[in-house]
Amino acid sequence: ATVSSVVASNHPKFEPGQLVLGYSGWQDYEVSSGKGLTWLDPDAGPVSTALGVMGMPGLTAYVGLLDIGQPKPGETVVVSSAAGAVGSVAGQIARLKGCRTMGVAGTAEKCRYTVQEFGFERCLNYNDDDFVEQLKDACPDGIDIYFENVGGKVFDAACALMNTAGRIPVCGMISRYNDTALPEGPDTLPRLMRAILTRRLLVCGFIITDHGHRLGDFLKDMGGWLESGEVHYREDVTAGLENAVHVFQGLLAGSNTGKALIRVSDDPTMKR
Ligand SMILES: NC(=O)c1ccc[n+]([C@@H]2O[C@H](COP(=O)([O-])OP(=O)(O)OC[C@H]3O[C@@H](n4cnc5c(N)ncnc54)[C@H](OP(=O)(O)O)[C@@H]3O)[C@@H](O)[C@H]2O)c1
Repeated sequence: ATVSSVVASNHPKFEPGQLVLGYSGWQDYEVSSGKGLTWLDPDAGPVSTALGVMGMPGLTAYVGLLDIGQPKPGETVVVSSAAGAVGSVAGQIARLKGCRTMGVAGTAEKCRYTVQEFGFERCLNYNDDDFVEQLKDACPDGIDIYFENVGGKVFDAACALMNTAGRIPVCGMISRYNDTALPEGPDTLPRLMRAILTRRLLVCGFIITDHGHRLGDFLKDMGGWLESGEVHYREDVTAGLENAVHVFQGLLAGSNTGKALIRVSDDPTMKR
């Protein structure tokens, strides 16, 4: 998604200087019919948040956790990619709903700020040799909701600890996006299917574009949580459109710390 300012307009709803949210791609200018553009209120906060905590990633966390996860107070929620744009919000909403929140991330530094800035109870580094034991130790009562962002070994470790009637909102599987063949090692599908059956697990994939009807509730709730300081967010901003490919590759390797953004020009809302 992109935040842009209108340079010239023949459209009755848009005027030069207005800020709009859209999907114009990685380019300096776009000619638009106005379809798919949403006017942004520059007084509502930094417009960059329309791309992160108040935008698609935030809504993804909201829908995945609340609508599919159905969290109840006292439940244990594990979130993978917990330091990132979606995961950090999913964990904070779970905490606000009274759950015990455990994060999983790829470096000690990410784990540090996941606990200190986002208020997760604990965050485990999946690159530690004893990660599986650490997860077991962190979840003595099992896992009620596993918010799935990554796939691979984190998914396997979390699945093994799911409680009866547990829920797994399947948001992403970033560790597998570049696969060109089946992973090496034993076929774990029969074990997974057995767990789904015997523990009555709900495993539900979702694509956020199907859930636009939740936008109003989300904006109201998230706006309130940000204003009250109950939800925090991080942005990892890189200047220059020429760096977009490098930043995107870094996302797949874990080098972003927060919502990865490319700034192509000055942000007028930061001067206020
Ligand atoms: N279903 C939907 O509609 C929807 C919408 C938006 C996003 N998503 C998905 O949600 C997930 C999170 O997206 P995001 O935008 O919030 O990104 P993000 O978490 O801000 O950044 C991606 C993170 O993924 C982690 N990662 C990369 N390779 C990994 C690997 N091999 N194993 C484990 N973790 C790995 C890295 O963190 P670590 O350093 O912690 O590994 C990286 O920083 C992605 O899977 C994305 O595709 C789904």
